[in-house]
Amino acid sequence: MPGKTTLIAPSILSADFSDLKSALSLAETAGADWIHCDVMDGAFVPNITFGPLIVQAIAMNTSLVVDTHLMIQDPDRYIEDFVKAGSHQVTVHQEACPHLHRTVQFIRGLGAKAGVSINPATPVSTLESILPDLDLVLLMSVNPGFGGQKFIPASIGKIQKLDAMRRELNPGLVIAVDGGVTEENAAELAAAGADSLIAGTAFFKAPDPAAAARKIKGLA
Ligand code: DX5
Ligand code: ZN
Repeated sequence: MPGKTTLIAPSILSADFSDLKSALSLAETAGADWIHCDVMDGAFVPNITFGPLIVQAIAMNTSLVVDTHLMIQDPDRYIEDFVKAGSHQVTVHQEACPHLHRTVQFIRGLGAKAGVSINPATPVSTLESILPDLDLVLLMSVNPGFGGQKFIPASIGKIQKLDAMRRELNPGLVIAVDGGVTEENAAELAAAGADSLIAGTAFFKAPDPAAAARKIKGLA
C-alpha cells in the first residue's frame, strides 16, 4: 500500500542491558512505536533471557507500547505476571498452547491485546479458527531463540497468505514480522502486508538507529 507507514518495534534483546534507560530513550527519539520484549525460557527455545521484573523495569521507563513476546512453554502460568508488569500486548506461541483459545481469552480478560506467534515451519492456515479472536499475529521469520539471524525468504509468502486471510476473517488484525528484518527487506515486508516490523540488530546495532528506523518505517 503506497504511503502506508509501517510501525517499528525495536527488540530490547539487542540493546545494552547495563543501560536500558538509554536504550529506551534512543528508541523513543528514533520514532519507535512499540518496544519488543523477547522472553525465553530455555525450554520452548534454546536460550534464556528475562522475566517480568525486567519487563516491569522497561514499562516503567518508557511511553512506548510494551509488546511482550513469550517464547515459553505453558505461558498461561505467567501471563498475568507479564500483564501486571506493564505489557500492553502479550503474544504466545501457537506451538506452546494446546488450548490456544482459552489462552487468548485469558490475555484479553486481563485487559491486554492478544497476539499469537507461529514458527517458520507452522503454516498460517493453522490460525484460521483463532484469527477472529486476535489483535495481532507475530510471524516468525527466523527460528525463535536468538537475535541476529538471517531472514527466511519463505516468510514473504506467509505474510501474503495471512493478509488475504485477515481480509475475510479479521480486517483489524495487526500483522507483525519478527526476525532478520533489515533496512533492505522492510519495504518488501510492508508491501506483502506487514504492519509492524520487529528489529533487534537492525535497530540497536545500526550506526545510526534513528536513520535505520526511518528506513524501516518507509519514511526515508
Ligand atoms: C527471536 C526474537 C526476535 C529477535 C529479533 O527469537 O523473537 O525478536 O530479537 O532480532 P533480529 O532483529 O536481530 O533478528
Ligand atoms: Zn521476538
